Amino acid sequence: MASGQLTAVVTGAGGTIGTCLSSRLASMGYNLVVIDTHKINLGALQSKIHTEHPETQVLALEVNISSSQEVIQAAQVVQDRFNGIDILINNAGISPKLSNGKRIPALDIDDQEWDLVMQTNLKSVFLMCKYFFGVLKAKEGKIINIASMMGATGSGVGTHQIFPYSVSAAHYSASKAGVINLTKSLAREFSEFNIPVYAIAPGAVSGGMGKFDESFIKNLKEQIPSHQLGTPEEIVNTLTFLLTSGMSLTGQTIHVNHGWFMGG
Ligand SMILES: NC(=O)c1ccc[n+]([C@@H]2O[C@H](COP(=O)([O-])OP(=O)(O)OC[C@H]3O[C@@H](n4cnc5c(N)ncnc54)[C@H](O)[C@@H]3O)[C@@H](O)[C@H]2O)c1
Repeated sequence: MASGQLTAVVTGAGGTIGTCLSSRLASMGYNLVVIDTHKINLGALQSKIHTEHPETQVLALEVNISSSQEVIQAAQVVQDRFNGIDILINNAGISPKLSNGKRIPALDIDDQEWDLVMQTNLKSVFLMCKYFFGVLKAKEGKIINIASMMGATGSGVGTHQIFPYSVSAAHYSASKAGVINLTKSLAREFSEFNIPVYAIAPGAVSGGMGKFDESFIKNLKEQIPSHQLGTPEEIVNTLTFLLTSGMSLTGQTIHVNHGWFMGG
């Protein structure tokens, strides 16, 4: 069990997977730096952790992680408060789609929305790794990037087809492919500092951005060998496994998707 001196930074902490990650890390004895742009969810998470784990130190930062300036300031605040960190989890992300849950066809993606998705999902991972490197290096911390199965498969095949592989749009999928690739480059570069860099690629996780209407979910489940969506807890279980793996899995992306995509 980790001692109370360990510290984890979680981005997108106010979301579905981020809340689950933060709670588990608190129960493992980590102090938390929870980062999100969603002030209300961030406050709710802070209260939850205080109630469930009163011994946990929680630093909640309302930060847009796609802004260099805000990330630089956040890294300084964390440095002043904790000196070093043991884990950086780059979990924040956005997945714009049509209101009925179907993906946006690539040719209909707004140019500015393309930039927003790339900045939020990919540039932010670069910025967090770059500006938190100093606090990570101090304790030989670990980096875990939350990618997506869509980063390996690409998105859908037709405007009216909702599967296979089409719950996201092309910009989201491309951004997550970037996260998987960046994970490999950073893993090579950071190995001399004994800092492993891993990615977890969920399939469809219930709740959060995996929220779809019932008929969509029914169709989705038919495509998945286990006929189940994933749960945030399964993502957290994979993370806790990675925390035990040292440098052996650095650079790897672990797919967690109930057999929906098996790589190759
Ligand atoms: N839910 C799924 O089915 C699924 C599948 C594959 C991958 N993922 C990935 O898992 C991660 C978490 O997803 P989730 O389902 O919990 O989504 P979510 O929408 O519940 O949470 C995402 C969080 O990120 C925050 N965020 C967005 N932009 C931000 C920014 N610029 N700065 C700081 N915070 C920001 C949001 O406020 C939100 O709290 C994402 O990276 C997502 O791409 C999710």
